[in-house]
Amino acid sequence: MKRLFMISNRLPLVVNDNNGDKELIPYGDRFDTGLRNFYRSFDIKWVGRAGINIDEINESEKQYIDNKFRSENCIPIYLDRQLNSEFIEGFCDNTIWPVFNYFIETSRYNPDFWESYKEVNQIYADAIVKYITEDDIIWVHDYHLMLLPKLIREKMPNVSIGYFQHIPFPSFEVFRLLPWRMELLEGILEADLVGFHTYDYQRHFMSCVRRLLGLETIFNRIRLDERVVKVDAFPKGVDFEFFNNTAQELATNKEAQHSDIRMELQEFLKRDKERKIILSIDRLDYTKGIPDRIKAFELFLNKYPEYKEKVSLFLFVRPSRENVLDYRELKKQMDELVGRINGMYGSISWMPIWYFYRTTDRMEALELYSSADIALITPTRDGMNLVAKEYLASRYDKTGVLILSEMAGAAKELGESLIVNPNSRVDVAEAIYQALNMSKSEQVERNSALQKRLKIYNEERWANDFINSLEGVKKLQESNY
Ligand code: G6P
Repeated sequence: MKRLFMISNRLPLVVNDNNGDKELIPYGDRFDTGLRNFYRSFDIKWVGRAGINIDEINESEKQYIDNKFRSENCIPIYLDRQLNSEFIEGFCDNTIWPVFNYFIETSRYNPDFWESYKEVNQIYADAIVKYITEDDIIWVHDYHLMLLPKLIREKMPNVSIGYFQHIPFPSFEVFRLLPWRMELLEGILEADLVGFHTYDYQRHFMSCVRRLLGLETIFNRIRLDERVVKVDAFPKGVDFEFFNNTAQELATNKEAQHSDIRMELQEFLKRDKERKIILSIDRLDYTKGIPDRIKAFELFLNKYPEYKEKVSLFLFVRPSRENVLDYRELKKQMDELVGRINGMYGSISWMPIWYFYRTTDRMEALELYSSADIALITPTRDGMNLVAKEYLASRYDKTGVLILSEMAGAAKELGESLIVNPNSRVDVAEAIYQALNMSKSEQVERNSALQKRLKIYNEERWANDFINSLEGVKKLQESNY
């Protein structure tokens, strides 16, 4: 069985400190995805940050954690507190994230953060080359590790390296703002295959390569001195069968186990069966456009007051990057906004916005998707947005309306949903009105087309396409293209 190294910022497991006892717990749903069959066809090794700072544990604790990780096929990367913070909150969250998501006024260009970014990429490389052979497949994930393909290639000239970026790649005019733009491009280009969610990101990347490095690009290939690199779009999908089948099972099987959220929702709906639910569910991030979304909902209530008491916005926000100032400020802004709107429009019997600041697991999300008449997803920028796809996949009877920002990568594939410009509150408010008035037959018609696509281009297809394409590039290189 071939060995596949899945390398990313996080491992599927993290260290949890349970009153001094260290244990490994799953991080999110990373093991529990539609990639189960894909993972089974490889001998997988995971590489990522341990989730605990090296200066916060003693030697025997480290050994203990190391052994636990090893038994789960994980190779943990340890950083000290300062390096970790300059790498994550510094370069990744304060430089790359805002620039790649077009928030250029938020970005900070700090040379110390850059040094830490380089150092961490080197630490990853040093850890990985100890384990790999030229026969292994290396799959590097995301913007935290853009220098890694080059650092691995220096030690392993023939190994297969794929790089996939889960966030947008910005246009040349934005990417060029980075003082370290050349090094970042050169780092990525030592991969054999470079993947993005959409053709637009691919195009932006190719244009940067041409304009900044002066390299020749032919269709989706880049000619380097002794190698050809392929750049392609691989739109990530979701575990369609899981969402679709489980939603149906929960709705039709009286014995099915429901999560607490469902119970709460049922209570809510019992009080007023006619009340419509609009669902908003995101990680807390300024790229998600949450305050503008709330204001668009307010505009809708003003414009169509007959919907007061009839519609509620369920706003689920998952805490994220709480060490970064911009995120803390955003949280404050949201709290105030929700408070103001509920205070202004609410009544004893009706609260316009139900606001939950907490994480939701996959089953809870599924219950919410199943109960929501409308999903309102309006990021100002988003690499893909899998929530949009999960919502559609969960609508097993094909009803429900997705309102989706055209700035999300997913909009490229989900044209039958209501596509809006998130910067136009008027457009978003009108889309809410249209969604509430859409006939069931129109909903079914739109969602049938969407689901057909989501079923074929599921998560497993994404991973298989990427790895097959990587193998294809290797053959191309061997044939001396
Ligand atoms: C984006 C990135 C992921 C990252 C996620 C959450 O979707 O592409 O790599 O994991 O944001 O960010 P966090 O900082 O919590 O890992």
